[in-house]
Amino acid sequence: MTRPHNLPIAVFDSGLGGLTVLHALRSRLPQEDFFYFADTRFLPYGDRPEVFLKERGVLIAGALARRGAKALVIACNTATAAAAEAIRAATELPIVAIEPGVKPAAALTRSGVVGVLATTRTLDSERFGRLVGNHANHLNIVAQACPGLAEAIETEGPASPAVGLLLDAFVAPLVAAGVDVVVLGCTHYPWVAEAISRRMPAGVALLDTGEPVARQLERLLSAGRLLGGGSGQLKVATSGAPHAVSATVDRLWGRHLPVEHWEP
Ligand code: DGL
Repeated sequence: MTRPHNLPIAVFDSGLGGLTVLHALRSRLPQEDFFYFADTRFLPYGDRPEVFLKERGVLIAGALARRGAKALVIACNTATAAAAEAIRAATELPIVAIEPGVKPAAALTRSGVVGVLATTRTLDSERFGRLVGNHANHLNIVAQACPGLAEAIETEGPASPAVGLLLDAFVAPLVAAGVDVVVLGCTHYPWVAEAISRRMPAGVALLDTGEPVARQLERLLSAGRLLGGGSGQLKVATSGAPHAVSATVDRLWGRHLPVEHWEP
């Protein structure tokens, strides 16, 4: 089925972490229109069963396609790990998914010790096991689950004492192991990249995957003759209460963005 190239690109995450990806998408493709959906009602995805994430992911992707989209970006490592294959099987939309940057980290490390910060669901997934097996079998991968971190970043704020305490606990094992590269394997974590760096020795590289996802989206749109046709518009929606997330959206994005309610 051919899709009109003037439709928006749909982007979704469990909440506002995917805004870090959206930022990279809009920088690379400023002429495109975007519809960003935060599934805030079900945040955090990281503690939910795989079967739930599959059903929810397929439901959201189907509803976004019906709403009108020319492509879909799964801006959530957890949803990708649990549901990317199910979503691809259920929708005709061109899809870009996101996974922890283990491959670029393997190319970058000198010490051979690489830290990965991600949700429990991502790290426990078969997909993550395959990723490490394919690209980092020769390395010491220190995988640190960060339960509660994505939620605390949204509800308490990136600079809050609650987030600081969680980071103290999650970063310490990476420092002790001597990592020289840290993969930010959850799209919420770039919001606290500086705070992570402050807890690491100087020179440790932090990798997030917004840029490569943006390049992949551009390739996919170009291959499908779907590039252009928009005017840089951005709509943000939540499955939760817009007034409850609005202030956090504005703080993270750096300027006011209207937020509407949308139910997939
Ligand atoms: N932002 C999501 C990710 O990239 C998950 C956060 C959560 O809902 O647990 O994994």
